[in-house]
Amino acid sequence: MSALVIAIDGPAAAGKGTIAKDLASKLDLAYLDTGSLYRAVAHAVILAGGDPADDADAARAAETLDIEAIDQTAIRTREVGTAASLVAAKPQVRAQLLETQRRIAKNPPAGKGGVVMDGRDIGTVVCPDADVKLFVTASDDARAHRRWLELVKSDPELTQAQVLADLTERDRRDSERATSPLVQAADATLLDTTNLSIEAAIQAALDIVGRR
Ligand code: DC
Repeated sequence: MSALVIAIDGPAAAGKGTIAKDLASKLDLAYLDTGSLYRAVAHAVILAGGDPADDADAARAAETLDIEAIDQTAIRTREVGTAASLVAAKPQVRAQLLETQRRIAKNPPAGKGGVVMDGRDIGTVVCPDADVKLFVTASDDARAHRRWLELVKSDPELTQAQVLADLTERDRRDSERATSPLVQAADATLLDTTNLSIEAAIQAALDIVGRR
């Protein structure tokens, strides 16, 4: 039997990660945060003193990425988030990570019957045959507020307006790039979490999965 795939796409800070992690745990599936792969490539470029906007620097970091060695704390900064949206626009980087993501989707870790993957192009490009597709979104202000709450812990000077400006710029880059732009798959179910608590958003996602 082939592995079950649940694809969860949407813009930054819409609640994808929280929903995907919880679905994976409740349904006993593996979870893959594909944004962390792009973030890890960006982080490697920065650590090597390279330029995330440079094709060769980004391609080299993607080729040598060790997914077992990703520093989950270091990749969560604002700087890495911005650099990730730059490397994510590079066709060589996307081609390299496409293979990695498909390999994981086809071969979930031992004991797991499938995988929940969150990202921007899972339902459209990485796993177009996914069993369930969700497109999770929320208003710009709701997303900026959630991301600000996360980032202000380590950066007390940061304002919500700065976070909103970052998100708007990243969304624009993610949506306008030529290769695998952020777009809702035709067969994805839209879930708007603007006015939902975390619990309500998770329940809504479980209901969508249950209907499939
Ligand atoms: O979800 P995130 O904020 O961790 O993603 C970081 C960047 O990676 C974001 O700008 C979009 C990009 N990304 C992508 O292009 N495709 C994916 N499947 C996942 C993330």
